[in-house]
Amino acid sequence: MNTEPKRILLIIGGGIAAYKSLELIRLCRKAGIAVTPILTRAGAEFVTPMSVSGLAGEEVYTDLFDLTDEAEMGHIQLSRIADLVVAAPATADLIAKMAAGLANDLASTALMATDKPVLIAPAMNVRMWQHPATQRNIATLKQDGVLFTGPDEGDMACGEYGPGRMSEPADILAAIMRFYGSHLPGVPHGPLTGRKVVITAGPTHEPIDPVRYIANRSSGKQGYALAEAAIALGAEVALVSGPVHLPVPPGVELIQVETAREMLAAVGGELPCDIAIFCAAVADWRTAADAKQKMKKDGSGKVPSLELTENPDILKTIGHLKKHRPPLVIGFAAETENVIVNAQKKLKAKAADLIVANDVSHESGVMGGSQNTVHLVGKDDVESWDKMSKQAVARKLMDRFAALYIERA
Ligand code: PMT
Repeated sequence: MNTEPKRILLIIGGGIAAYKSLELIRLCRKAGIAVTPILTRAGAEFVTPMSVSGLAGEEVYTDLFDLTDEAEMGHIQLSRIADLVVAAPATADLIAKMAAGLANDLASTALMATDKPVLIAPAMNVRMWQHPATQRNIATLKQDGVLFTGPDEGDMACGEYGPGRMSEPADILAAIMRFYGSHLPGVPHGPLTGRKVVITAGPTHEPIDPVRYIANRSSGKQGYALAEAAIALGAEVALVSGPVHLPVPPGVELIQVETAREMLAAVGGELPCDIAIFCAAVADWRTAADAKQKMKKDGSGKVPSLELTENPDILKTIGHLKKHRPPLVIGFAAETENVIVNAQKKLKAKAADLIVANDVSHESGVMGGSQNTVHLVGKDDVESWDKMSKQAVARKLMDRFAALYIERA
C-alpha cells in the first residue's frame, strides 16, 4: 500500500461553477488529499484567492510572472508536485488552449508542462459545449489521454437546459478517488479496496402454500448492477438476493434467499460491513399461516381469504443497530406517488444515511426494466438524476457512496 500523502494540483478556471471548486477542495482535504490551487485570472472574478487558499490551507498560485512564486517554486516544478492535475471548472477557453497546446498563463503553462495525468471537469453554456469547435477539442484531449468527469445535463445558471453543467464536487472527488484507486503504484484495486459492501437485491417470495407465493416484479437488475459497480471499485461484495434470473457478477459472493426473514438472517450474517445497500423489493407482508399442504378448491365456490402478517423490516433493523451498524446505510424507496416526500419519511423512519428514491409506477417501467430515474434523498437535500441505464445509475451511485464513505471515515 502506498503511504505517500496524496496531492492534486487544482486549476480553477473562470466560470460560474468556480464556486463549486471551493466545496471540492473541502471534500478533497476531508478525504486526505492535499490541494495545491492555481486560480486563473478569470477564475478570480468568481472566487477570491483568499477563500481558495483558506480552504486549501496552502498558497494559491495565480500569475505566471509572479516573481515571488517563481523564486519559491518555478512553474515547471509546480506542474509536477501533484499526483494528478485537476481542472475544475474547465472552461471552453481552457479546453481550447489545452487542445491547441497554448501556454500563455500559469494554468495553461502548468497543463503543458506537467508530466502527470490530467482530469478535467468541463463547465460551459450548452451551446458552447455542443459547438463543433469544442467537440473537436474534446476529441483531441481524449486522444491525448486526458480524463473527464461530466459535464452533467440539467438547468444551467444562464437559464438554458442541456449538457454543460460542471459535475458535482462529490462526483469529481469520486473521479479523483477512482484515479487513486487504479493508478497509484501499490494500490491494486480501487477506493473501496479492503472494504466490505453488502447489497440486497431482487424480490422476496413469501409462501402461501408449498406451490404458491406472494411476490413482486423486481428483476434484481438494479441490485446486481450495484454489486458489479462495487466490485469495480475494489470492494468485497456480498449480494443477498431473492429469486432472480441473472448471471452473478464475477467476484461477487452470492447468498440466495427466498423470504424476507431469510434475507434478514443472511444480511445479519454478513455484518460487520462498511456499506450496506438495501435495493431488494422485500415483501412487507407474508401469510400468517404458511400452509403445509397445497390449498384446494372444494367445489363450493368459496374463496379462501389470506390473513397477512408483517415481515421484519431489514433496512430499519440494520439502520437502528447499536452495535455493528455499518458506517453507511443506504436504502431505496420504491414509490408510485409523492416519491420525494415518501422517501424523506423512509429516510427518517428507517434511520438510513441516504435513500435512493425511484418511481415504480407501471408507466415508469422501472421495476423489471433496464433503465431508472433516481433521486438521492438526504437529510437536508434532494438530488435528481436523469434517466439512465441501471448500470450507469449503479456506477454513479457506487462512486457517490464510496466518496461519502471515505468522507465520513
Ligand atoms: O429489481 P429491479 O427490477 O431492477 O428494480 C429495482 C427496484 C425498483 C426494485 C429498486 O430500484 C428499488 O426501488 N428497491 C427498493 C424496493 C422496495 O421495497 O422499496 P420500499 O420503498 O418498499 O422499501 C424501502 C426500503 O426498505 C428499501 O431499501 C427496501 O429494501 C427496504 N425494506 C422494505 C421492506 C422490508 N420488509 N425490509 C426492507 O429492508
